[in-house]
Amino acid sequence: MHEGFASREERAALIAELPKAELHLQIEGSLEPALMFELAQRNRVAIPFASVEEVRAAYAFSNLQDFLDIYYQGMGVLHREQDFHDLTAAYLAHAHADNVRHVEIFFDPQGHTARGVAFGTVVAGITRALDDAEASYGMTSKLIMCFLRHLSEDEAEATLDAALPYLDRIAGVGLDSSEVGHPPAKFERVFARAKRLGLKTVAHAGEEGPPEYVREALDLLKVDRIDHGNRSLEDPALVARLAAEGMTLTVCPLSNLKLCVVDDIAAHPLKTMLDAGLKATVNSDDPSYFGGYVGANYQAVADALDLSRDELVTLARNSFTGSFLSDADKAKHMTAIDACA
Ligand code: HPA
Repeated sequence: MHEGFASREERAALIAELPKAELHLQIEGSLEPALMFELAQRNRVAIPFASVEEVRAAYAFSNLQDFLDIYYQGMGVLHREQDFHDLTAAYLAHAHADNVRHVEIFFDPQGHTARGVAFGTVVAGITRALDDAEASYGMTSKLIMCFLRHLSEDEAEATLDAALPYLDRIAGVGLDSSEVGHPPAKFERVFARAKRLGLKTVAHAGEEGPPEYVREALDLLKVDRIDHGNRSLEDPALVARLAAEGMTLTVCPLSNLKLCVVDDIAAHPLKTMLDAGLKATVNSDDPSYFGGYVGANYQAVADALDLSRDELVTLARNSFTGSFLSDADKAKHMTAIDACA
């Protein structure tokens, strides 16, 4: 136990008490097995599982693609506006229980439009739940739509076209799905257009892909944040650059464990990142598939790496300073963190 804490419970109490933002959350990856069954019944969609236990047993992955195959299949139960609302409302209740005050949520429109679900149906369901959470919990939010990088840039352009009527509710674009073989360079033009439209830009890079993909995300996509970024650590010059630029990394400890990005949570690079001056944050990614919401991610990595009080406070601070909130809102959250630091 780190000298700053008398017990594991004391560290858990600080984690619970710290106001947090979550910056890397795939809303479709928060689909719990029980809701998957309910929606399958509601929409008369067949799923290849007989029970919640069977679903959980299928969640054993040896890499990103293994997971993605089951993730795209799982989201097939989402059809109506109410389904997207219920999915999002369930996630927001978990986030609220973990004292999350602000969320920046990813969604994968191409995972739905390819199945004949209208772009507007997805956005309407998600944003209705986000608006409800602001009213009932005081939780603020931003929505980020991701392009699926295993598809073409033309398809990403068509997705950006489909988003145009909804840009008042979309803060940014991201890049996710199968990383290796689909470098950021493939999406340079569509990201440039998104920037011209005033959207923020983020990209998954360095989860399975090499440090070069992180450089491309910075130089070609001109991203505001790097999602994951773990493999940046293989390149000391890149680490120095990320630190100097104050670039936020949205790190996902339990995801990294489940997708075999790390072999053991005790070998997770989060502390190394902080020691190197990187602006790392802790996030849950696909909490239903990876075994825990944001609080569980903080707890797992804090226990395994024996994180100090200062390190946990830094992680909470980073989650707000790396967000797309206004400076005034960030300052308000910093004051709340100071109260429990
Ligand atoms: N990486 C890439 N794409 C994804 C992920 C991830 O961890 N989760 C959902 N889509």
